Amino acid sequence: MSLRARVVALIAGVLLISLLLGAAAAGYQAREALSAELAAGLGGAQQTVNSAFEDLPNSDHPARDLRQLVATFDGNRHVRASLMIPGGRAALTSHTRSAGAPAPPWFGRLLGPSPAARQIAVPGHAAGFEAIVLAPTAEADVGAAWGEFTGIVTALTGSAAVGLILVYLVISAAFRPLRALADQFGRVGAGDYSGRVAERGPTELLGLQRGFNRMAGELAATTERNRLLGDQLLTLQEEERADIARDLHDDIGPHLFAVNMDAEMIAQLGEAGRHEGVTEHVRSIQAAVKHMQRQVRDLLSRLRPARITELGLNAAILDLVRFWSARRPDIAFNLTLLDEEAELPEATKDVVYRVVQEAANNAVRHGSPKTVRIALWIDADETLSISVADDGTGHDAAPTLGGLGLVGMRERVASVGGTLSSGPNHAGMGWTTIARLRLDGAAAAQPSEAAA
Ligand SMILES: Nc1ncnc2c1ncn2[C@@H]1O[C@H](COP(=O)(O)OP(=O)(O)O)[C@@H](O)[C@H]1O
Ligand SMILES: [Mg+2]
Repeated sequence: MSLRARVVALIAGVLLISLLLGAAAAGYQAREALSAELAAGLGGAQQTVNSAFEDLPNSDHPARDLRQLVATFDGNRHVRASLMIPGGRAALTSHTRSAGAPAPPWFGRLLGPSPAARQIAVPGHAAGFEAIVLAPTAEADVGAAWGEFTGIVTALTGSAAVGLILVYLVISAAFRPLRALADQFGRVGAGDYSGRVAERGPTELLGLQRGFNRMAGELAATTERNRLLGDQLLTLQEEERADIARDLHDDIGPHLFAVNMDAEMIAQLGEAGRHEGVTEHVRSIQAAVKHMQRQVRDLLSRLRPARITELGLNAAILDLVRFWSARRPDIAFNLTLLDEEAELPEATKDVVYRVVQEAANNAVRHGSPKTVRIALWIDADETLSISVADDGTGHDAAPTLGGLGLVGMRERVASVGGTLSSGPNHAGMGWTTIARLRLDGAAAAQPSEAAA
């Protein structure tokens, strides 16, 4: 059952209960009003009869007066009067006013029993009449109460129905954005991150919609970054191969040719039995082979990159700083290195070096700083922190799209389970890059906001 159907059913239930309670209250009120009205009518009628009976002994025509007395009850809604003769028969009965639409019998029963009829003896049995019987007549009142009751129930039912329709419309409208959100989630699940939902509606939904849009944006950006990195990797590989092909062609090719020529010459000299020129050609071959050995070593080291950190991490970083100091003597480099670098795994050393390299390059290239501080330290909880902070113009640097340095650093750090933050400082000038790597294999906490 859908959430919308549940909510509508719940509200319909509540409306039905209040409708039943309203009907019960209206019924109870009608019952009270009817019994009060009948009792009052009967009391009034009894008084009228009593006072007429007081005057009866002085009457010249008691029979006529008694008939007139009964006739005064014609049209009374609450009481029917009957003039009784001996034998319990009525000589005359008043006509009650007829009710409108009659109420169903169950409604009359629900309103309770009518008060008992009252019999008042005619004083001295004047003119042979025995008594006047006053009987309560509830029909007209029950009819009126029925009319009122049905009116109230109809009004309640009508307003409940209108209320329910409004609730249905409001809930349908409120649930529409949820359906849109569910559709978009389905598309994200299928790998399409381009969809966004409109951010409108109640606050609870707004949060959900904003969250969804942020998530889809982040997914799209990550996918795009991965694509760019992949492209870059391919280009780099192709460039590298073209380079190697060129080197093989330009450097090794001519020397092989030269070696072949020298060998040919030695063979010819040998056949001719001349030995004086041989040494010179042998020397030439040796020189060519030496040259080719160097070239091959270079090529091999490029194919299987020598780990920069094989020198030692500190030495590699010092080398880097020396490289920049020579080119930018106006920048002061402030270094805090690790004591026990030997304990770091090779993969971690690589990452540390690459982060320092990229962050220092960025500082020099983008920040025009006076000072660059590079610090490495290990906390008590086995977290290795790498911080590169400069006092350049980081704060007003316009963010450049397509810079892959930051992305590359982040991915390298993530590959060993670490976290990285890199950005302009909040206060004052400069830019700070901080990476945290856990040395015990646990996931690193996100570095707190970069701050000088
Ligand atoms: N230390 C820094 N000082 C000022 N701006 C920086 C610094 N580091 C990074 N940036 C800004 O961040 C951008 C992205 O850096 P990066 O991803 O390394 O790309 P790239 O160096 O190729 O431009 C830079 O273009 C620069 O605008
Ligand atoms: Mg860069």
